[in-house]
Amino acid sequence: MPGITLGDTVPNLEVETTNGTFKLHDYFADSWTVLFSHPGDFTPVCTTELGAMAKYAHEFDKRGVKLLGLSCDDVQSHKDWIKDIEAFTHGSKVKYPIIADPNKEIIPQLNMIDPIENGPSRALHIVGPDSKIKLSFLYPSTTGRNMDEVLRALDSLLMASKHNNKIATPVNWKPDEPVVISPAVSDEEAKKMFPQGFKTADLPSKKGYLRHTQVS
Ligand code: BEZ
Repeated sequence: MPGITLGDTVPNLEVETTNGTFKLHDYFADSWTVLFSHPGDFTPVCTTELGAMAKYAHEFDKRGVKLLGLSCDDVQSHKDWIKDIEAFTHGSKVKYPIIADPNKEIIPQLNMIDPIENGPSRALHIVGPDSKIKLSFLYPSTTGRNMDEVLRALDSLLMASKHNNKIATPVNWKPDEPVVISPAVSDEEAKKMFPQGFKTADLPSKKGYLRHTQVS
């Protein structure tokens, strides 16, 4: 996927949104942000996705994480569409801003393009407080995203960041489950870093690289 990717800084564009005009880095400052794009307003899958984001907003609030949508229509169209989204979700309010991009000038700069359709995609970047991309999803327009997976991936990023990336989260990990210790950490370091202890899986190779520990 050409364009900005993991580790890159999101360009500090000035964006017009349903909640006013601001520079992206001002919005990203001091918290994590889930930035998610949509092919267009008044489309069925997007309506369900933006509604789900509104329903899940309290989960993102609890984690101190901001939401920022983007759809390739203008602000007035977004405001009209929000009435449909809120009606569809039976009253969940769309309080997060939605960026207007009626001329499709912003999405290529954010690398939120579907290369197959050569148009706007169902992309999602999780952006850190340093305005750098920490995780990206790219889905085709025919596949709606899974908000539980967005939250789960976000929880993994927050947990790894809290532990200076000395831990990682294994397959299907959920909060409160054991994590694994990074291969960059020796057993000696791990003993100091994780006084609660860790368990090394006994595998045929005897390489001792799969070590689980419990952190909070
Ligand atoms: C949708 O959001 O429903 C959608 C958008 C573009 C193409 C197909 C579906």
